[in-house]
Amino acid sequence: MKVFVLTGAGISAESGIPTFRGDDGLWEGHRVEDVATPQAFQRNPKLVHEFYNKRRRFLQNESVVPNLAHQALAEFERDHDDEFLLVTQNIDDLHQRAGSRQVLPMHGELLKARCTLTGDVIEWRDDLTVDTVHPTEPDLVGTLRPHVVWFGETPIGLDQIADFAQRCDLFIAIGTSALVYPAAGIVQSTGPHCRCVEINLDDTPQSSHFDTALRGKASVEVPRFLQSL
Ligand code: OAD
Repeated sequence: MKVFVLTGAGISAESGIPTFRGDDGLWEGHRVEDVATPQAFQRNPKLVHEFYNKRRRFLQNESVVPNLAHQALAEFERDHDDEFLLVTQNIDDLHQRAGSRQVLPMHGELLKARCTLTGDVIEWRDDLTVDTVHPTEPDLVGTLRPHVVWFGETPIGLDQIADFAQRCDLFIAIGTSALVYPAAGIVQSTGPHCRCVEINLDDTPQSSHFDTALRGKASVEVPRFLQSL
């Protein structure tokens, strides 16, 4: 059985990382256009760096650790002998820390920086500023940006995602509001025989395209469902 898992912010909520869409429609007090677009970075790189610096620091806080849902997925992958792909919209590294190996972070990774001139992608745990010097190109100052996908940019790995969506036998979407495309549309690109399972606290705009809805916390529902397979 070929298994495709898609995760969103809901899977990391119980690890203490806030989800994106609060009741006020703001993202930690910011409008998305002010912090998560290429235009925002051009207009006010300091603000954008500060926003991601805060998140990067928080991610490395010792209280932030993978939860039972991340762990169950890693264990399932270890014991699974057919194809498996875990596509995450999350920019945290909690799947990798839990031991998942075939992880495709389609919206980038907070613990990486990218050079806007050379395209180099570099492991990065410190703050980034407009004065940050490229670690191997000392002449390049202020060229590093967070290696995250902003609104208006193309997510990572779309060909691999499209290919596996068509071939998988089981598609599981966990903790995603299904509001941001193309991730939200993956369920509709799965093949006719694929079983689609949605795990979320609530219904989403894509719920009608799933065969099974499991409503509850990811830390409970994900281990329970994977054990039932
Ligand atoms: P959202 O914050 O939009 O949605 C989180 C979803 O998780 C909601 O549907 C909640 O009901 C659900 N949820 C919350 N806690 C949960 C729990 N403990 N167990 C199960 N479900 C839970 O996050 P995403 O769907 O991941 O993109 O957001 C998608 C994209 O929008 C993000 O990757 C980001 C953002 O803007 C970019 O930055 C490009």
